[in-house]
Amino acid sequence: MTYPIVQVRSDFPILARKVNSWPLTYLDSAASAQKPNAVIDYESDYYRQGYAAVHRGIHTLSSEATIRMENVRAKVARFINAASAEEIIFTKGTTEGINLVANSWGRHFLHPGDNILITEMEHHANIVPWQMLAKEKQLTLRYIPLLPDGTLDVSQLPSLINEHTQLFAVTQVSNVLGTINPLQTLIAKVRAVSDAVVLVDGAQSVMHQKVDVQALNCDFYVFSGHKIYGPSGIGILYGKKELLDSMPPWEGGGSMIRTVSLNEGTTFNDIPWRFEAGSPHTVGMMGLGASIDYVEQIGLDNIQVYERELMSYALEVLQQVPNLELYGPDSRIGVIAFNLGQHHAYDVGSFLDQYGIAIRTGHHCAMPLMNYFQVPSMCRASLAMYTNHDDIDRLVTGLLRVQRLLG
Ligand code: ALA
Repeated sequence: MTYPIVQVRSDFPILARKVNSWPLTYLDSAASAQKPNAVIDYESDYYRQGYAAVHRGIHTLSSEATIRMENVRAKVARFINAASAEEIIFTKGTTEGINLVANSWGRHFLHPGDNILITEMEHHANIVPWQMLAKEKQLTLRYIPLLPDGTLDVSQLPSLINEHTQLFAVTQVSNVLGTINPLQTLIAKVRAVSDAVVLVDGAQSVMHQKVDVQALNCDFYVFSGHKIYGPSGIGILYGKKELLDSMPPWEGGGSMIRTVSLNEGTTFNDIPWRFEAGSPHTVGMMGLGASIDYVEQIGLDNIQVYERELMSYALEVLQQVPNLELYGPDSRIGVIAFNLGQHHAYDVGSFLDQYGIAIRTGHHCAMPLMNYFQVPSMCRASLAMYTNHDDIDRLVTGLLRVQRLLG
C-alpha cells in the first residue's frame, strides 16, 4: 500500500499554518503530537451533543456518556491486547500511571532491603517516583547502564538482579535516543532470577508500532493520549487483573468507593473504578478513543513502515550538515537527538524556530542520560505519522542556515 501522506497531512489542520511567515515544520511530536480533525470533531461533538457526568446519573445523557466512556476502555483494551477492559485504568497520563503503581502497589508490597531495577535511559517520570519510594521504604535502586551507541548494556544484568529485585521498570523506546529496548529478552532474564513485577513505559512506543501487552508479558504498561494524536490530560495504566485486584486504592474520593460510613469507614469499588477517584476527564477519553480509531484506520503497520523509511531518509540527509553530532543507535524509532558543534541546543532551537521549524531542546526530562553523554542538553527532532520528506529537507536546510549564522 502507498502510504496516504497527503491525506494524512490534510487531516491535521494545524499543519497548514505558518510560523514566523514560514510553513510550519512540526518536528516536536514526541513531546506532544498534533490532533487530526477526527479527534477535534469528536470531542466537539461530545460537548455539543453528549456531555454529562458519568457513573452518577440515571438520566439519558449520563447513561449515554457512561456507555461511551466504558466503550473507550474496551477499545483501549483491544488496542494493546489486554485480556479484559477491567485491566485498563484511565489516568492523567504516563506520569500519573507510574505514580499510581509506586504509591499503591509499591507502598503496599515493597519492603526494606528490596531493590528496584530501572535503566540509565529512563525519563524522569520513570526514575523520580522510584527514588521517592526508595527513600521512604529503604529500597535500593539499580540501573542498567547505557553503552555509547545508546543501547543498554545487557551484559551487566546478572550483577544487577537478585532474588530481592521486586520491580523492573523500563521504557520500551527511549524518548531521547529512539532506542528500541529488547523487552522480551530483558523481561525473560529478569524473571529467570526474580519474581519482579515488570512495568513498561510505552509513552514513546504506542504511536509507532503495535503493542501487545500479553505477548510482552509485562505486569503494567503506561502511555499518554497526547502523544498518540489524542488529547492531553488523559492516559492509560494497564495492569494484570490479579495484580490490580490485590492493590489498595491510591487517591480517595467519589467513584472509587462502594460504601462510606462516618463510623465504620469506607469500602472500595472493584477495579478499574477503584483507581479512578473523582469526576473523570471524559472529553479526554472520547478524544483518545477517536485517536485510536484514526490511527487504526490508517493502520499501525503502515505507519511503522512509512516512519521507518522516513527515519532512514532523515539519518542519511542529516549527514549533509557538518559538525552534527547524532546520539543513539542506527536502528531507532521516532526521534533524532543531536547537537550542532559546540552550539547550545537552545540557540539552535531558537534559530530554527525563526524558520518555522519546531524541535525540542533541553535535557528532555532525562538528566542521567545527558550526564552519560556529558552534555547539558540536546536538540531533538521527532517524526510522526504526518511528517513528510519536505519537513526533513527543511530541517537540513535550517540547520545549514543556523550553522552559517552561528559560525
Ligand atoms: N516526555 C515528553 C518528551 O520526551 C514530554 O518530550
